[in-house]
Amino acid sequence: MTKREVTFTLNGRPVTYLVEPRTTLLRALREHGVTSVKRGCEEGECGTCTVLLDGIPVKSCTLLALEVEGKAVLTVEGLVSKDGKLHPVQQAFIEGGGIQCGFCTPGMVLTAYALLSENPDPTEDDIRRALAGNLCRCTGYSGIFRSVKRAAELLKEGAGCCNS
Ligand code: FES
Ligand code: FES
Repeated sequence: MTKREVTFTLNGRPVTYLVEPRTTLLRALREHGVTSVKRGCEEGECGTCTVLLDGIPVKSCTLLALEVEGKAVLTVEGLVSKDGKLHPVQQAFIEGGGIQCGFCTPGMVLTAYALLSENPDPTEDDIRRALAGNLCRCTGYSGIFRSVKRAAELLKEGAGCCNS
């Protein structure tokens, strides 16, 4: 199949990928070394492939790579500062015990980041609703919810956020 170019911003840097029209964003990212974006169900159900597209969480297995032309894609790699410091949301997942399997974690972190960008003081219900599309197969949700609450605290303490 003839490949086509798609140009978009990945974690703040412009990139151009050569992809088959049928290639999903998930597969294109992974083929280009962005392996934090995990391949789970590939049916839009599990959330392990979550990325932020222009700031909104999307399941990258449900999009064609060509659909992100001109858009901004953020993965967890893009949350780390230039000097290698973890983003407060990432730090909070360590402190709160939200990193359990590592497989669902990137999607959880990105969804939490998007939530806190919009709502810096979420209730437990807000957190549950936001994370409803991100499945934890080991049912360790309490550590994940605790981590999102910890992230909100860290951000309020001025650790810097979201949209920065
Ligand atoms: S791999 Fe995309 S939602 Fe499961
Ligand atoms: S912590 Fe990842 S599946 Fe449960």
